[in-house]
Amino acid sequence: MRMKTMKENVFFGGAVDWDRRLFDSLIPLPDGTSYNSYLVQGSDKTALIDTVDPAKADILFEQLSGVEKIDYLVAHHAEQDHAGCIPLVLAKYPEAKLLTSPKGKGLIIDHLHVDEKKITAVADGETVSLGDRTLTFIHTPWVHWPETMATYLAEEKILFTCDFFGSHLATTDMYARDEGRVYEAAKRYYAEIMMPFRHTIRSNLEKLKGLAIDVIAPSHGPAYDNPAFIMDAYRDWISDQPKNQVVVPYVSMHGSTRMLVERLVGSLAHKGITVFQFDLAAVDLGKLAISLVDAATIVIGTPTVHVGPHPAVLYAVTLANALRPKTLFASVVGSFGWAGKAAEQVAASIPNLKVEVLPPMMCKGMPRRADLEAVDKLGELIFEKHKARGLVK
Ligand code: FEO
Repeated sequence: MRMKTMKENVFFGGAVDWDRRLFDSLIPLPDGTSYNSYLVQGSDKTALIDTVDPAKADILFEQLSGVEKIDYLVAHHAEQDHAGCIPLVLAKYPEAKLLTSPKGKGLIIDHLHVDEKKITAVADGETVSLGDRTLTFIHTPWVHWPETMATYLAEEKILFTCDFFGSHLATTDMYARDEGRVYEAAKRYYAEIMMPFRHTIRSNLEKLKGLAIDVIAPSHGPAYDNPAFIMDAYRDWISDQPKNQVVVPYVSMHGSTRMLVERLVGSLAHKGITVFQFDLAAVDLGKLAISLVDAATIVIGTPTVHVGPHPAVLYAVTLANALRPKTLFASVVGSFGWAGKAAEQVAASIPNLKVEVLPPMMCKGMPRRADLEAVDKLGELIFEKHKARGLVK
């Protein structure tokens, strides 16, 4: 695909990866992704902002086929999907200076073995003139690596943000047009990549407050010509206040845990709580991550396998623990054949979640009426906890 014109001499390029289905051998990409690269041609100098994943290098170089000179290559982030083609671009344009943050310099040397002499570290707030255009570099650390930064093109009020505000979405649209679809993809991206850093995201959002921004141009998914759409979404996602929601990821081997889970979900729903129920044997983990962005409570359902929880449950809670959602309460429901420590082991697996652990409900064998009534009581307790926190409207 050819580069698209954003403004006069400002171009949206890079590659759409329609078929990629997994990132980091971990993150599902049901809607593919893109690696956006931007070209800014000033009256004197030309800058390329970010590259693409090496698997799509041919697309980037086809787009650059008519570009004779690149003076500056801006690297916002050292991760492969944006920085992976830096050595190839520097080989094609040996006069280009690579501009990145001081931490980016070290990471690019480590990860890509780029010659140190090619790299100029730029300070927070430093500017580079392209003639009639000016690039201002804004350090935005920990969105989501320590070196991440953004670039502001003042004359056009475009903020290039790399991963920050991005979405894993393959689309031919230059700007977010189907906002419902983009919201879901951007929330998935936030949940999987950004959520552990929500406190530093807050300070980075504050830092951007004074800028006049007409367009946010990330390096995944479409750009935003309505920046408030994505900035307001981020403000909501990073807020400390969870919503009146419960997430129930579970596995059931022979049906007992599922009976408990379905009873709990019914009981919570009856009280007006929004519940997300996920069978971990078949779930898209991205959907689970999205649900953790807002939920006040997580209840994990697990059978007992050799004394402990089901391995699929341990996998999911390890991920939840790493994502550090703002969850306030956690509990466990499940079953065991003759004995077990599944509930204790699950509770011990989520130390990063600053939650109050509510008493688990584990039953022996197939649930009896008393077990189901105990699940109802757990539902009541969750409702009372939400109410006490002002989450029930
Ligand atoms: Fe899109 Fe952190 O790389």
